[in-house]
Amino acid sequence: MKTIAVIGTGYVGLVTATCFADLGNRVIGIDIDEKKIRLLKDGIPSIYEPGLKEMVGRNMLANRLSFTTSYEEGLAEADFVFIAVDTPSGSGGEADLRHVRSAAQGITRVLDHPVIVINRSTVPIGTGDIVADILRSSLKASIDFGVVSNPEFTREGAAIADFLNPDRVVLGSTNREWAESVAQLYLPLRAPIIITDIRTAEMIKYASNAFLATRISFINEIASICERMGADIKEVAVGMGYDKRIGHAFLDAGIGWGGSCFPKDVRALEYMGSVHGCHPQMLRAVMEINRDRRREIVHKLRVLLGGNLNHKTIGILGLAFKPQTDDMREAPSVEIIHLLETEGARIQAYDPEAMKNAESILPGVKLCSDAYDVAEGADALVLVTEWNEFKNLDFAKIRNHLNQPVLVDGRNLYDPQKMHELGFIYSGMGRGNNEK
Ligand code: UDX
Repeated sequence: MKTIAVIGTGYVGLVTATCFADLGNRVIGIDIDEKKIRLLKDGIPSIYEPGLKEMVGRNMLANRLSFTTSYEEGLAEADFVFIAVDTPSGSGGEADLRHVRSAAQGITRVLDHPVIVINRSTVPIGTGDIVADILRSSLKASIDFGVVSNPEFTREGAAIADFLNPDRVVLGSTNREWAESVAQLYLPLRAPIIITDIRTAEMIKYASNAFLATRISFINEIASICERMGADIKEVAVGMGYDKRIGHAFLDAGIGWGGSCFPKDVRALEYMGSVHGCHPQMLRAVMEINRDRRREIVHKLRVLLGGNLNHKTIGILGLAFKPQTDDMREAPSVEIIHLLETEGARIQAYDPEAMKNAESILPGVKLCSDAYDVAEGADALVLVTEWNEFKNLDFAKIRNHLNQPVLVDGRNLYDPQKMHELGFIYSGMGRGNNEK
C-alpha cells in the first residue's frame, strides 16, 4: 500500500484522491479551504459529480481516504504528492500559476523525506521545471525528490469512469525511474502508459484539449454553412463519423464548448504560442467560431420574434455548461443570457443541478421549478443544456404554456419534424433542411 497526498480537492484533486483510495492506496487530500475540508470530513464533496459522494464515503469508512488543511499532516508519510490545484486564466489568457507555486512552496516547508511530486493540474509547458526549481532551491540537499508530469484527461460528469478506464496514462519526467514508479500506481487500470519528457507530457494535455475544441468549432462552422445551404448537420456528422480516420466523437454541433478546461486551455495555448513567436491563427479562429455560436442564438431569437427582443420573455432550459454537472464555469448560458438581457429581454430558467451556482452569477434571472414553469408565459424557449430530463418533455403542455410556440434547440436535441408537427416554430443549429 502506497501513501499518496493530493494537494487540491477540486474536481481534479478530489477525483484523483478518491479513485487512488479506491484502488487500495492510503490517500490524504490537502486543501487550504477550511470550509471544503470541514465538509469533506463529513463525507460531503463541495462539487457534484455522479458517484463521487458514495465513493468518498466508502473509502473514508475503510480508513483509506482522509482530508486535512495541514501540509505537515498530509505529507508526513507520503510517498507521492500530487499537485492538483487550479490554474485559472490570467488577464491575457495566460495560465495563472500562483496556486501551483504556493503548493510547491507548501511542500518545501514541511517535507522531511524523499517523495515524487506529480503535476496533475493542466500547466503551461515548462511548469515541471519551475516546480523542480522551487523544490531544489528550498529543500534541504539531503531530501531527494523527483518531479513527474501526469496530466488528467477526465471529463466532468464522467470523471470517475474516465479515471478508472483511461484511454492512456501520460507520464513525463527527466528521470525514467520516477515515471515508472508513478506508473505502478496506475497498473491496476491496465491502460496504455506513455512515458515522455516533462514538456512533451505537458503539451500532450494542451494539444488534446485544443484538438477536441477544434473539432467542435469545425463542426459548428460546417453547421453554419449547412443551415444556409439546406443540409442537416446531424446527418452530415454521422456520415463523416463512419470514416475511421474521423470517428463519431465530438462532432455534435450546437452552441459551442464551455467549462473549466477547453476555454482556459485553448486561450493558454494561444498565449504560449504567440509569446514564443508563433502565429497560432487556427486556435484564434477556434475561439472566434465558439463566440459566434452564442451570438447565433440571439440572432435566431431576434429573427423569430419579429426583430426585437426588448421586453420579450425568454425561457432557458439548462444552465450548466453540459449535463451531469453543476458547473457554471464558462457556461454558454451565461453569455447567451447576458446578450439577451442587453437587448432588453427578461429571462426565466431552470437547471436540474446548477441553480445554486447560477444564483450569484445570474442575478437578474428568474429561476423556475421545472421546464414547464420556464415555458409559462415565455415568448420563446431555448434549449441550452441537453439534460436527460429535457428529452421527453410533454411538449403539448410546453407549447400551451408558451406565449408563442418558438423553440430554439441549441443542442439539436429534438427531431425537427416532430416539433413542427407539434406546432412549434423550431430552429436547431445547422439543420437547414428543416427550418420553417
Ligand atoms: C474536457 C476534456 O474532455 C477532458 O479530457 C479534460 O480533462 C477536461 O476538459 P469537460 O470540460 O468535462 O472535459 O467536458 P467535455 O465533455 O469534454 O465537453 C466540453 C465542452 O464541449 C462542453 O461544453 C460540451 O457541451 C461541448 N461539446 C462536446 C460540444 O459542443 N460538442 C461535442 O461534440 C462535444
